[in-house]
Amino acid sequence: MTQNSITAAQSGTFKIGGDLQVNRLGFGAMRITGKGIWGEPDDRDEAIRVLKRLPELDVDFIDTADSYGPFVSEDLIAEALAPYASSVIATKGGLTRHGPDVWPPVGRPEYLRQCVLMSLRRLKLDQIPLWQLHRIDSKVPRDEQFGVMKQMQDEGLIRHLGLSEVSVEDIRAAQEVFTVATVQNLYNLVTRQSEDVLEYCDAQGIGFIPWFPLAAGNLAKPGSILDTLSHKYEATPSQLALAWVLKRSAVMLPIPGTSKVKHLEENVAAAAITLSDEDFTALSEQGKAEAAKG
Ligand SMILES: NC(=O)c1ccc[n+]([C@@H]2O[C@H](COP(=O)([O-])OP(=O)(O)OC[C@H]3O[C@@H](n4cnc5c(N)ncnc54)[C@H](OP(=O)(O)O)[C@@H]3O)[C@@H](O)[C@H]2O)c1
Repeated sequence: MTQNSITAAQSGTFKIGGDLQVNRLGFGAMRITGKGIWGEPDDRDEAIRVLKRLPELDVDFIDTADSYGPFVSEDLIAEALAPYASSVIATKGGLTRHGPDVWPPVGRPEYLRQCVLMSLRRLKLDQIPLWQLHRIDSKVPRDEQFGVMKQMQDEGLIRHLGLSEVSVEDIRAAQEVFTVATVQNLYNLVTRQSEDVLEYCDAQGIGFIPWFPLAAGNLAKPGSILDTLSHKYEATPSQLALAWVLKRSAVMLPIPGTSKVKHLEENVAAAAITLSDEDFTALSEQGKAEAAKG
């Protein structure tokens, strides 16, 4: 099979909130912005080409946030893909931007409402398929943040609700207020502090969206396990890191991000890799050991 005939459909499907079906291998649209996730991307035409290539590769789950750019990522998505014949757009709000790499949270209900209303306008949508609270703001009671999310869902502005960078206890608290459809936490082969959150999501049927899924750290060095497996599977270490994440749980929805069509095609090709149980276990153990080193 050539890389170009592989599509995200081979990663299997997941129903967000029990009814919104997507192919599990999605796309993260944070990297189609400038340095520090600030301003326009260096190569705007290539960013548009990346977005237009997504439906051709059956990548129908696209993660973004109002804070990416800010606004640049959502604007580019709308320019390239609206009115979204097949794409499910997941966006986030609740972080403000004061410069490159600066992301202060603001969780006051009136601000979260503005985030949703402005994302709807930028994305040219009547309803946001999945809206995620980017961070719980510790300066605002979390139930106030959850409460306005539920209100906006009841008003029809949002179809499904998700959280980002949360603990199991946060998820349980949110579940008292609304149905938590997804959780987006940092997770990859060598960054495993959210293992308990993943296990909770798995048990509850909550989609788990691992961000920074491509990281493989020292496991990708020459002579390492990923290096050895690369030859066996004729795949790159990044592709194997993605294949491992996909096999780790049926609720896993990885969203590798890139600003380049070539990298997008390479990442999507990971959907066709099925690790043997033995190689999966060996990678899991070595990833955990690497994570423990810190
Ligand atoms: N919830 C949160 O707090 C949070 C935080 C961070 C990110 N996210 C989301 O998660 C998504 C993924 O996270 P991420 O972008 O940090 O990590 P990632 O997708 O694991 O890695 C992206 C980086 O890897 C490079 N890359 C991608 N594919 C490649 C390939 N095939 N070969 C070589 N390099 C490649 C990209 O550069 P090139 O552009 O050069 O390909 C980029 O620098 C983001 O897009 C965003 O949607 C969420």
